[in-house]
Amino acid sequence: MNHIKIDLDRRLGNIHPHIFGGFAEHLGRCFYGGIYEPGSPLADDEGFRTDVLDALRRLRMPIIRYPGGNFVSGYRWLDGVGPLEERQTRIDMAWDTLEPNHFGTNEFIQFCRKVETEPYFVVNCGDGDMREAHDWVEYCNGTQDTALVKLRKQHGFEAPHEVKYWGIGNEVDGTWQIGYKSPAEYARAYKEFAKVMRWSDPSIKLIASVTSNWSEPFVERTQLLLEEAPDHVDYVSIHWYVGNREDDFARYMTVSEFFDERIGVFEGLIKAMRLQQKIQKPIAIAVDEWNVWYRARGATAEERNNLEEIYNLEDALVVAMHFNAFIRHAQMVKMANIAQIVNVIAPIFTNPDGLFLQTIFHPFEIYSRTCGNVALDVFWKGDTFSGGDYSALRTLDVSATLDEQKKSLSLYVVNRSQTDALETTIALDSGYFSGPVQAYVVNGPDIKSENSFDNPNQVGVTDAAITAERSHLTYTFEPHSVTALVCPLE
Ligand code: AHR
Repeated sequence: MNHIKIDLDRRLGNIHPHIFGGFAEHLGRCFYGGIYEPGSPLADDEGFRTDVLDALRRLRMPIIRYPGGNFVSGYRWLDGVGPLEERQTRIDMAWDTLEPNHFGTNEFIQFCRKVETEPYFVVNCGDGDMREAHDWVEYCNGTQDTALVKLRKQHGFEAPHEVKYWGIGNEVDGTWQIGYKSPAEYARAYKEFAKVMRWSDPSIKLIASVTSNWSEPFVERTQLLLEEAPDHVDYVSIHWYVGNREDDFARYMTVSEFFDERIGVFEGLIKAMRLQQKIQKPIAIAVDEWNVWYRARGATAEERNNLEEIYNLEDALVVAMHFNAFIRHAQMVKMANIAQIVNVIAPIFTNPDGLFLQTIFHPFEIYSRTCGNVALDVFWKGDTFSGGDYSALRTLDVSATLDEQKKSLSLYVVNRSQTDALETTIALDSGYFSGPVQAYVVNGPDIKSENSFDNPNQVGVTDAAITAERSHLTYTFEPHSVTALVCPLE
């Protein structure tokens, strides 16, 4: 028997909805043939695929990062604005392809308005300069009578786009990046970019690219950055991708420890630097690229450059464990962006005739729709398992949130057992259940089950209403499943 206890007064922090963010890059079929396909019978008058927009709306992503990724480190934003017939095709060095620039700043803003999401732009801190970054902020947000503001208006956008979130560079710590920067080079560049971007619009929030290459000295990198530009860092960005290369389910399921460890390390680093540098303002963590990605890195050029990963059920469990970790660390993780959103390592997969929802779509939708505004501390004990370098890990991976307005508790549980249904008592230490509890379960025939055009519902969601006693509930978590129990409270 497993036991979960929740005290509604033991709060870990406020959850920022931006933990359900996305990321869309000029890469493979993310835009062209995915989000944007003018001439397709499925596209609207402006060329956006309506089926894709509808699927994205279901995910309720409150923020989407754009335009890269590695792509941005060689991108000239001016190439992507203005009349289509005047836009030039450029070589995209990051992904070894041609970029027609038919999609750019204004198309992305239109897209954001259509899916009701906030744009988050990343500026080129690879082969780009601070002038270009400053000008992009001015073009988007400027209100004065300047040449760039006139240009935006000439392009059909009278009102400013009001882009609030701006990243300075992408994965600058990786030698694979166009314009890799040493810790000292980035700290200097960041400060100067930030300064002039804020001279253009002082209200913007800035995200520093800190760690994606975990074998680099990230402590030194964080330290130098926060010594050099303490007032200009609103978020420290970290990236990771995980996968089951060894085809070892138990080992794969221990990945929760890796999330907790990395986030915990950055929580400590930021706290230490704020104390040392006497930084008054908060600095948050943005995990602004994360996902499962290990298959489509293969030998062929197409695999390498399209990244069309097909996900299975075990990957969906790992996506849910990401959200559990972000909720458990809600106090400092204020943004997280699944990489990416359509076709390229993504929950939505299209062909010219339609789309199917990948397995990882389902936990994303359930969490983003049911997550409350407060993260709760949860006590749980029971069955354990061993995998990889870990032993005695709890088989259930758990998080919980409270929605103060709706008076509702959401309990999220990933059952990491491949074989066992786990009967569990769930007790409230304070407060009472009221009315039936809604149980949403993501599952499929086995851990390798995938969705496809031919078989789109191998992995899907079932829901059921269950009865709770005053402050007790007994529930059996299915093997290899993700469950959200949404409980109305008195
Ligand atoms: O998301 C795919 C790539 O992964 C991004 O371009 C890059 O930032 C990361 O390495």
